[in-house]
Amino acid sequence: MKNYKHYRLIILFCLCFLAVANVNAQSDWQLTAKENESLSPFLFDDDMILEGKISYENSCTSCHGMPGQADYTPMAPSPGDPASDQFQLQSDGALFHKIKTGRGTMPKFEDVFADDETWNLVAFIRSFNENYKQPVPDLGGIEIPEYSMKLAFDENIDKLVVKVFAKELPQSDVSVSAFVKGSFGKYLIGKAQTDELGIAYVDVDPTLPGDAEGKLDIMVKVTKGYGLAKMNANMIMAKPTVRKSAIEGRHIWSNDKNAPIWLKVSFFITIFGVWLVLFFIVIGLRGINKANKEEE
Ligand code: HEC
Repeated sequence: MKNYKHYRLIILFCLCFLAVANVNAQSDWQLTAKENESLSPFLFDDDMILEGKISYENSCTSCHGMPGQADYTPMAPSPGDPASDQFQLQSDGALFHKIKTGRGTMPKFEDVFADDETWNLVAFIRSFNENYKQPVPDLGGIEIPEYSMKLAFDENIDKLVVKVFAKELPQSDVSVSAFVKGSFGKYLIGKAQTDELGIAYVDVDPTLPGDAEGKLDIMVKVTKGYGLAKMNANMIMAKPTVRKSAIEGRHIWSNDKNAPIWLKVSFFITIFGVWLVLFFIVIGLRGINKANKEEE
């Protein structure tokens, strides 16, 4: 009987522990009102969504799946589908801070993504909500600078040099991202920050395939606070690449030049043979016709 009591105590203890753990798992995230209400300093646009998509595919799909597919990893607590109400009914600030701080199995991304990159993720998550209207912060008289830029490519160090101005003065601490425009969308070349001279150096992979002259179609985006500017350019900054036709050299019949002599000869002999047979048939028919007429 004494032993029994012992067991009951242990079971009670386990139940209490489980209950506490369970409450812990389902409690609300602790966010301050300020965090909840914080808003993106950038207007969500296609570029932000695209950048967010790239980060999401690298860092989030393993648990959350693709938004809208409900293919998140089954675990407790559930990560959930970012296209679902669980995410979409939350404020932008809540999503932003939850991504930054994480909880339990949800990793903390504070040290992985800069703030603008975390907003890209929010922009991507919001792109699955047709009814979403981005709340814009009240700027309260803050003037948004109009950025302009100059671009050059330094081939000695394989860097894209971006100088950022506002009202003709160089601007420091501006985030610069460069993209290459491909047939299927944009790809990030790299990111950098302008120094005190307003210059940012973006590393360029020297093996990127350019056109026949080594030119690339690029888009450079600069952002700081609420300021944003974009510029398109076509610059020599990659390996000259002569693009071959997809069928060149692959099939013996793809063009005359590639056809081997035996194929050409047998082709002409066959064609000639067919015409010859047709010719004999016509002659033959004429002979029958003539013979018929003579009989009449
Ligand atoms: C290792 C798996 C894992 C990865 C990777 C992961 N998450 Fe999560 N995430 C979770 C889990 C589990 C939860 C639920 C946590 C909880 O409720 O305690 C969660 C919760 C969240 C929430 C809060 C949802 C809510 O209900 O309030 C957001 C927002 C979120 N994740 C975004 C992201 C983003 C964006 C990424 C990629 C940058 C990411 N997560 C990567 C597992 C993951």
